[in-house]
Amino acid sequence: MKRGLFWVPVFGISLWLGIALAVVGGGDITLKGGKAGDVLFSHDVHVTDVGLGCKECHTKLYLNTKKHRHVTMKQMGMGKSCGACHNGKKAFSVKGDCGKCHKK
Ligand code: HEC
Ligand code: HEC
Ligand code: HEC
Repeated sequence: MKRGLFWVPVFGISLWLGIALAVVGGGDITLKGGKAGDVLFSHDVHVTDVGLGCKECHTKLYLNTKKHRHVTMKQMGMGKSCGACHNGKKAFSVKGDCGKCHKK
């Protein structure tokens, strides 16, 4: 094999890894939290650190930012959106620790 040809797949893979490392899933997403302040949702935390699969959230709970379905805290308290997990059992509850999600 010619030397030049050998490097084509190697370079291709490292380029792909570079992109994969830069952004996990949909990246960092800012959700409007009204008076309580914006909420930063991190794909990196949920996928890399917590170890959740895409299917835990997509597409039953979420599609993308353009097709965002607004949910109130009251609905979250009944298990919608973040509240599907942030219920005090799977993860810290949406009924407390406001500052863990909302940043002023
Ligand atoms: C813990 C829940 C959760 C997990 C797990 C998750 N996502 Fe997401 N994802 C979200 C949320 C929340 C949004 C924003 C949805 C919205 O604005 O309505 C989103 C949005 C996205 C978007 C759209 C981004 C944009 O700017 O519109 C893509 C692409 C995406 N996710 C890909 C992935 C992939 C790929 C995985 C698996 C590696 C994954 N997600 C895992 C919750 C999750
Ligand atoms: C697990 C993360 C999380 C926690 C904890 C949380 N919130 Fe939120 N909150 C959000 C997200 C995300 C939104 C935006 C929802 C959307 O656009 O679908 C939001 C929206 C809101 C809104 C605007 C919508 C509404 O319901 O009127 C207010 C006000 C609010 N939160 C207050 C609070 C208060 C007060 C607490 C603590 C008791 C709290 N939140 C705890 C994630 C959280
Ligand atoms: C499929 C389950 C699931 C969904 C849906 C989910 N989370 Fe989480 N989240 C977790 C788990 C599990 C943890 C880690 C355990 C804990 O911190 O209680 C976590 C941790 C977090 C943390 C702590 C991060 C840190 O650095 O310590 C924040 C902030 C957070 N989630 C915000 C959100 C917001 C905002 C939403 C909704 C837009 C959301 N999560 C939806 C499961 C979920």
